[in-house]
Amino acid sequence: MTKKLVLLISGRGSNLQSILRACQSGQVPDTAIVCVISNRADAPGLALAKQAGIPTQVMDHRNYPSRADFDAALRQGIDAHAPDLVVLAGFMRRLTVSFVTHYLGRLVNIHPSLLPAFPGLHTHARALEQGVCWHGATVHFVTPELDAGPSIVQAAVPVHPDDDPARLAERVLDAEHQIYPQALAAILSGHCRLEAGRVHWSTPFPAAAETVVHPQLTSVTMQTPSPGA
Ligand code: GAR
Repeated sequence: MTKKLVLLISGRGSNLQSILRACQSGQVPDTAIVCVISNRADAPGLALAKQAGIPTQVMDHRNYPSRADFDAALRQGIDAHAPDLVVLAGFMRRLTVSFVTHYLGRLVNIHPSLLPAFPGLHTHARALEQGVCWHGATVHFVTPELDAGPSIVQAAVPVHPDDDPARLAERVLDAEHQIYPQALAAILSGHCRLEAGRVHWSTPFPAAAETVVHPQLTSVTMQTPSPGA
């Protein structure tokens, strides 16, 4: 049976696009994006979804009296589609504990840093300020604490001496587009799940995916927990 994804976005939608391509190409097999919900009416990602024939919905958080009210409405909007997985793809809103608890194990996020380094905003500028040699992206299960859920896949990219936040962001985004579909495929196929607060792998992450060489990158290294860890 086709697995259903609901994607939540706030902006550009490049991760939405890479996930859509992965569903269409079979990299994420038997899976369809059934709805894209944005909390911003002007999110460019909405047009990408519409072009692809995906139903979209705008739920502007400013129209709700409280964070709890918005999250309750969002939950209703999502559950109307009965998704297998709820995918945060650049959704720039903190979520309430009750929302996160409702979707525990079925809610994933991509964050532009090697968590637990640099949770929150402005990750690329902060990485450069710290002078780190490696930066990257993390796909993780969402838990109530912001950007603190257990990691499913991480990609590390080198920081170059002449990087500025925009250049570094571009390199990280390329890596994001590779690892998010891989993580979704692993979860939807049942190879990876959240159990007792930790990520469990029933089979090793595909060996071929452990190191990715990208033409514009020196290297992208996939880091995954060992199976059963
Ligand atoms: C991505 O870089 C994603 O990692 C980040 O927002 C961007 C969305 O880009 N998410 C967060 O910072 C969440 N804390 P996109 O709209 O082109 O996918």
